[in-house]
Amino acid sequence: MRTKYVIGNWKMNLNFKEASLLVSELDKIQLTQDVKMVICPSFTYLHPLINQLNQSEIMVGAQNCAENEKGAFTGEVSSSMLQSIDVRFVIIGHSERRALFGDINEKIKNKIVQALNSQLRVIFCCGETLPERESGNYRDVIKHQLNSALQGINESQMKSIIIAYEPVWAIGTGKTASPEQAQEVHLFIRQELATLYGTDCAASTSILYGGSCNAENAKDLFQQPDIDGGLIGGASLKSHDFERIYQSF
Ligand code: PGA
Repeated sequence: MRTKYVIGNWKMNLNFKEASLLVSELDKIQLTQDVKMVICPSFTYLHPLINQLNQSEIMVGAQNCAENEKGAFTGEVSSSMLQSIDVRFVIIGHSERRALFGDINEKIKNKIVQALNSQLRVIFCCGETLPERESGNYRDVIKHQLNSALQGINESQMKSIIIAYEPVWAIGTGKTASPEQAQEVHLFIRQELATLYGTDCAASTSILYGGSCNAENAKDLFQQPDIDGGLIGGASLKSHDFERIYQSF
């Protein structure tokens, strides 16, 4: 049995009042043991929102962390800082970070190591761009992203890694991968994990879909055998939409 997740990636949205209100609305949703809910607000809101959720089943993650442990890195936030305020998850390798902030595979690998050293669970994102999909090379791209990010990670550490397949052409575009397209890649990722870590590890790793996932399409996506939930951007900013996505399971 794999853990199912519905994870909200709030990106750089909401002021603090709006964020706190959204959390109090989400906290009214009836959660089940089988499907975990995680929200990933901006760094500045992590601590107060974790306090606000201290009686709640909802867990909190960060959207990024530093690739270094500590020191003279102005503006950076380390994984141990996150751990020290009870952050449980961190998104690493999101395509926006790759495209806009120079998060190349090597950096991503370092961030994963830091996060695991701080006992954070990693939500590792991978996915191809539109030209890579159209060229038919998308499997090679994803394989390369997986292999370079997971270099040096052992089977026991894999228990702390969740994979999010996020085709770049589907993120924030309203263009979702069809359930069949997503399932094909999720199965491919699972087979790659089996090659790297064996079938037990592959079978127990949660692989989430992200990219214009919403209340309308979540059910069909989540019904696919290798899709274990969603990493949700835009639709995680409204409690009603996020609740409907959660209930799609
Ligand atoms: P989206 O974003 O749901 O708005 O497409 C998903 C993501 O970037 O994680």
